Amino acid sequence: MAEYTELCSTEDVPEGEMRSFTTGNNEILVVNLKGEFYALDAICNHMGGKLVKGRLKDNLVICPVHRCRYDVTSGKVKRGAGFLVESFSGKCGDQKAYEVKVEDGKVYVKI
Ligand code: FES
Repeated sequence: MAEYTELCSTEDVPEGEMRSFTTGNNEILVVNLKGEFYALDAICNHMGGKLVKGRLKDNLVICPVHRCRYDVTSGKVKRGAGFLVESFSGKCGDQKAYEVKVEDGKVYVKI
C-alpha cells in the first residue's frame, strides 16, 4: 500500500526551480511552482534522461535529451521528441506523477 514518504524540506526547492531526491529505489523530481509542490519520476520514461538537468518552462519540464515536455502537475506528455527520434526509439509516454503533501515545511510524496 502506498504511503507518504518524507522527501525534502520546502526550502530545498526554491520557487520556480526543481531538484531531484532519492528515496529507496526511486529518484523523484520535486518542482516548486509558485509555492505549490509537484513530484514526478526524475528519470525520463523515453530513454532515461535526467529531467533535473532539463529546463522548467512554466508548468512544463523539458527533458535535456530529446526535449519531450511533461506537465509537472500531471505527468502528461505535452510534446513528443519528434517524428524522426520517435520512429527510431519509441514514443515518449506520460511521466509517473506522485501525490504530494506539505506539512510543517516538509515535502512528502506518496510512493
Ligand atoms: S530521454 Fe527524455 S525525451 Fe528522450
